[in-house]
Amino acid sequence: MRALDNAYAPYSNFRVGAALRTRTGEIITGCNVENSAFGNAICAETLAVASAVSQGLTDFDEIAIATDDVEPTPPCGACRQVLSEFAPHIKISSYTRDGKEAAWTLGELLPHAFVLNPSRGRV
Ligand code: THU
Repeated sequence: MRALDNAYAPYSNFRVGAALRTRTGEIITGCNVENSAFGNAICAETLAVASAVSQGLTDFDEIAIATDDVEPTPPCGACRQVLSEFAPHIKISSYTRDGKEAAWTLGELLPHAFVLNPSRGRV
């Protein structure tokens, strides 16, 4: 919920916080960060993943999402793909401020995720 309080969403007014947990217990948070050039908005989940990777942490087992919405929000399609890069089996839980909760696995939300064999990129 602290990440939710830090969300910067003056354009959509849709505030999102995310907290990633690694298998070794570290918690890395993110919030959505919008921009007056709307296409530059960063989602909370993607920011949490990028922040974790920048700290050398890539072994995630769960992500919690929080919004002010009336129903728990699942991650957007782009964030599902970002999560699948590092944690194809991650558990996803989502919470509203007034205590509603929902949970999914990434496999349920993104079946048949796109995967690129890294060896294709080598010269
Ligand atoms: N948003 C997220 O942070 N995560 C999602 O999974 C869905 C959308 C943000 C992006 C934008 O700042 C606002 O919510 C409305 O789309």
